[in-house]
Amino acid sequence: MRQPLIAGNWKMNGSKASADALLRGVVAGSGGVSKSEIAVCVPFPYLYLGEQLLVGSAVRLGGQNLCTESGGAFTGEVSGSMLADFGCTYVICGHSERREYYGEDEASIALKLTRAIESGLTPILCVGETLRQREAGETEAVIAGQVDGVVDRIGIDAFAGIEIAYEPVWAIGTGLTATPEQAQAVHAFIRSRIAEKSASIAKKVRILYGGSMKPGNAAELLAQTDIDGGLIGGASLNADDFLAICLAGEQTAA
Ligand code: PGA
Repeated sequence: MRQPLIAGNWKMNGSKASADALLRGVVAGSGGVSKSEIAVCVPFPYLYLGEQLLVGSAVRLGGQNLCTESGGAFTGEVSGSMLADFGCTYVICGHSERREYYGEDEASIALKLTRAIESGLTPILCVGETLRQREAGETEAVIAGQVDGVVDRIGIDAFAGIEIAYEPVWAIGTGLTATPEQAQAVHAFIRSRIAEKSASIAKKVRILYGGSMKPGNAAELLAQTDIDGGLIGGASLNADDFLAICLAGEQTAA
């Protein structure tokens, strides 16, 4: 049985004051969540605040990106070991916004996954198709390329320490959500793709759904066999909404 993971992706939102309030709100409400794991992936400047405020709680901290290099003269970059130093457990890798706006591809994402694992972090690898690709019937080919492009570079064994997030690009921040059936179909496809290389890793790897997951639709998405949690953008900026999704995860956990 895979324990659900509900991870917030704050993206580039918030201020010191709002981050403080949100972190406190999530911690205060997290006591009722024992069967699922909760994480918040905050902007770099709020990592220290996160480290301080999450201490003693079950809420884990994560970053949203890391450098392909492990350290040195790379102005403006943040290394995996720096994230680990601030108490991060997770780091998001290859989010569609990074693929689209910052030119990340399978080669750079594979390097980031490697740096994350070397630093003791658990990366959350994001994959997903655009609306054009879905409408052209290319969803499985696109996802297969994104998964294989990484597996071929870093090896299947690395996936013992990686979470995957299926995030259809057309559902991110749009209010459009994949139906539970649409999401389940792609999650099952991802798991089968991993199973072609390792049945035991495919059984264990968590595959989160992301894309306009909200309190109102979380329960039916999380109830799907191959959906093991959520990567939550907009709804993670409100403690009550985020916690309501965590509680939905709780209902589906064994
Ligand atoms: P959303 O974002 O929940 O706002 O759609 C999800 C994500 O991009 O991780």
